[in-house]
Amino acid sequence: MKPPLSSSSSLLRKARLSPYLFTLLAFILFVAILYGEDFACIFGEPLQIVTDLGQPVSRTGKKWGKLPFAIGKTEEGCDVFSGRWVWDESRPLYQESECPYIQPQLTCQEHGRPEKDYQYWRWQPHDCSLPSFNATLMLETLRGKRMMFVGDSLNRGQYVSMVCLLHSIIPEEAKSMETFDSLTVFTAKEYNATIEFYWAPFLLESNSDNAVVHRIPDRIVRKGSINKHGRHWKGVDILVFNTYLWWMTGLKMKILLGSFDDEVKDTVELSTEDAYRMAMKSMLRWVRKNMDPKKSRVFFASMSPSHGKSIDWGGEAGLNCYNETSLIDDPNYWGSDCRRSVMQVIGEVFAESKFPITFLNITQLSGYRKDAHTSIYKQQWNPLTPEQKANPVSYADCVHWCLPGLQDTWNELLFAKLFYP
Ligand SMILES: *[C@@H]1O[C@H](CO)[C@@H](O)[C@H](O)[C@H]1NC(C)=O
Ligand SMILES: *[C@@H]1O[C@H](CO)[C@@H](O)[C@H](O)[C@H]1NC(C)=O
Ligand SMILES: *[C@@H]1O[C@H](CO)[C@@H](O)[C@H](O)[C@H]1NC(C)=O
Ligand SMILES: *[C@@H]1O[C@H](CO)[C@@H](O)[C@H](O)[C@H]1NC(C)=O
Repeated sequence: MKPPLSSSSSLLRKARLSPYLFTLLAFILFVAILYGEDFACIFGEPLQIVTDLGQPVSRTGKKWGKLPFAIGKTEEGCDVFSGRWVWDESRPLYQESECPYIQPQLTCQEHGRPEKDYQYWRWQPHDCSLPSFNATLMLETLRGKRMMFVGDSLNRGQYVSMVCLLHSIIPEEAKSMETFDSLTVFTAKEYNATIEFYWAPFLLESNSDNAVVHRIPDRIVRKGSINKHGRHWKGVDILVFNTYLWWMTGLKMKILLGSFDDEVKDTVELSTEDAYRMAMKSMLRWVRKNMDPKKSRVFFASMSPSHGKSIDWGGEAGLNCYNETSLIDDPNYWGSDCRRSVMQVIGEVFAESKFPITFLNITQLSGYRKDAHTSIYKQQWNPLTPEQKANPVSYADCVHWCLPGLQDTWNELLFAKLFYP
């Protein structure tokens, strides 16, 4: 089995013959880089392990008072993000075919995945149990309110999972889903509630902000531009942010100082780490200015891990998540990308937060789930070439996750932290 990159480069050599083919292949290669996980990072080794941020903690280390929407508490000392996966015959929480809102990039059964094992795992924290997801409670809580997920395609997956977890208790005529550019809105009419997704892969303004055509190889993020998107988040009662994947260019990040309309663009280059830190600080500043800690809640989901290199978990070089149906059982597994260093930045920035942001630490628990990616079982953006067809490893998506599946657990954790912080 050839590693995906060497097969792509031999394709590129052949492609010199035809400029059209070259453009097509360059595009495919770029998508492969973006979705096939060749995310290099340019961080150094982490300096220290950051403290647990599972509970919102203020700068002085004191817990915040009672948080909005809380109806109870997680057992003292229980970190719900520390645990293990257990097989549970009562899962999944809904069927793929019963949720019409899942985009065709995530419906793995419909696209030929031969088994369903990935649907049966439940997250079991070591020191307590997760409350079961109660759709009635969630919808009653959202009555007259807005919940919004803001971020990239991984956050969109979590958003769709949330809609799937809730929609079955709403009659057909009392719900709708509509998209307006960057914003997708699911409405539960009788509850006057909306659950929304807003596309902003960097949170700040960038040249990848088009919700449909956003695969820009030379990514640029504009400094101090959070209001560009933030004005669409005002008045939301529960906000769930994520941002990570798009920062992983393996290069220094280009930061725009002026405007995207300037003829000559004034840019500086920052390390991925400093650029990410800048965005996190902008996000916190926006939250402090625009959200009321007595009435609203803000969540931040940590990095969604990819499984693009089997050698990370002791597999054969050149393979990836394709064909994987079992979990990684090494409890100390962390993968080889920049997860640790980004976690470090998040920890440092949040330790200074003056707003009680609830951290959803989904990175490690998802890291064990090399079985849960969409792999080749999804709608493809481009028709597959014969070379690709002959080598499924080369086009397996080891970034996104099948639904139902892992991301339902992210929402069970969100549910736990919303009601039992
Ligand atoms: C996230 O959870 C993992 C596993 O429990 C832990 O090692 C890591 O320190 C946590 N990160 C933060 C920032 O709390
Ligand atoms: C779910 O929440 C509703 C509303 O709070 C409550 O009446 C119901 O008993 C809950 N269901 C379960 C199974 O706990
Ligand atoms: C519906 O909810 C919105 C907030 O999302 C609120 O502004 C409006 O007053 C509510 N309408 C009714 C009829 O309750
Ligand atoms: C995938 O699994 C099938 C069936 O077990 C096997 O025939 C095939 O060789 C595997 N492919 C790879 C790339 O491991």
